[in-house]
Amino acid sequence: MSALDPAVSGVPSMPTRNRSLMSNSDPKSSLKPDTKLAHLGREPRSFHGFVNPPVVHASTVLYPDVESMRPGGQKYSYARRGNPTTDSLEEALCELEGAAGVKLTNSGLNAVALAVLSCVKSGDHILITDTAYHPTRHFADTVLPKFGVSVDYYDPLMGVGIKSLFRPNTTAVFTEAPGSLTFEMQDIPAIAEAAHDIGATVLMDNTWATPLFCQPISLGVDLAIQAGTKYIVGHSDAMLGTVAASERAWEALDEYYGAIGGHVAPDDVFLGLRGLRTMSVRLERHQRNTHAVLNWLKDQPAVANISYPALPSDPGYEIWKRDFSGSTGLCAFDFADGTTNEQSNAFLNALNLFGLGYSWGGFESLAIPVKLKGSRSATQFDEKRRSVRLHIGLEDPEDLITDIGQALNKAFD
Ligand SMILES: Cc1ncc(COP(=O)(O)O)c(C=O)c1O
Repeated sequence: MSALDPAVSGVPSMPTRNRSLMSNSDPKSSLKPDTKLAHLGREPRSFHGFVNPPVVHASTVLYPDVESMRPGGQKYSYARRGNPTTDSLEEALCELEGAAGVKLTNSGLNAVALAVLSCVKSGDHILITDTAYHPTRHFADTVLPKFGVSVDYYDPLMGVGIKSLFRPNTTAVFTEAPGSLTFEMQDIPAIAEAAHDIGATVLMDNTWATPLFCQPISLGVDLAIQAGTKYIVGHSDAMLGTVAASERAWEALDEYYGAIGGHVAPDDVFLGLRGLRTMSVRLERHQRNTHAVLNWLKDQPAVANISYPALPSDPGYEIWKRDFSGSTGLCAFDFADGTTNEQSNAFLNALNLFGLGYSWGGFESLAIPVKLKGSRSATQFDEKRRSVRLHIGLEDPEDLITDIGQALNKAFD
């Protein structure tokens, strides 16, 4: 095998920055977000006029001659290093995120792991929000110590106060807003500024808002993570993750991704691309339906509190209004004091239109009981609180309200 074989040498055959379809001088970069969703990452003229890029099933790429087999000799070298399908989604997301580059992963959790591992090394210390998605904590607690990286959790609401937790070896700060079970909004610009003062990399799990409603890099984040499984794919039929990098974080991300052989199957990438085209329409409906359902839910006697940062009554509202341009379908509510586990379970079991499932972001409505796993060192979550997380789907909100109403009646009458 030739020393130049990129399958062996890992030599990329092209500059891996994925903004080739668009630059600041490209007229597409000034378009409004909805228009971008319809046009980014597509070049029909390159594919005989077909509207969508082909789903390229590939490993091997052939070269016309030995001379072309040098690094950069032709655009594609080996499918693990990218193909026209992955390029389309990466380029579209790169522009939406305002990133230097984007990498795709085979799940959202894998995107978390990739982003973290790209910016820490043995001896480093990372701070992670106490409200991070539980498998993110599991990754941090089980994988990072093996590589000599120490982890501390911090109160998501401490903002610039996070400085008090910095150590000489703190090199990364992981944020997630809102917390996907408890919905705290973090002051990302304040945390980012403090972290950058000590040269640390700032990461954000931005799955709730998507790059349509929040562009973390413009808030100071270096690595913006999406569980693309949720709103990008949008149909509960594929797993996907994305990491968008700022200029300062891109090289390390790109290098690490190449070194560990990151890759996503083209069929899943295509489902991500297809979902992306309608994401704005779906999110607008998720948002509208969620407001309609919560507006009714807040007046129900069995309900004590609603968590949804886009409501003026939510403690995170001011930050949401400052940093985000929309809201999506994930929210939660607490039952009134004294509600028993049995009543909460009876409510969930009585739902007909809401599936019981540990996910969200698809077209359908879902519900789960809120149970915080693992020790929450910084955030006090009242163990007696009975809460339900809802994902409000694309059904008619009147039907969803009727369904919740009958389930409340069954559980509380
Ligand atoms: C906030 C958040 N981040 C990351 C993930 C992980 O995504 P995936 O299930 O695609 O691994 C999830 C999944 O539920 C999530 O809710």
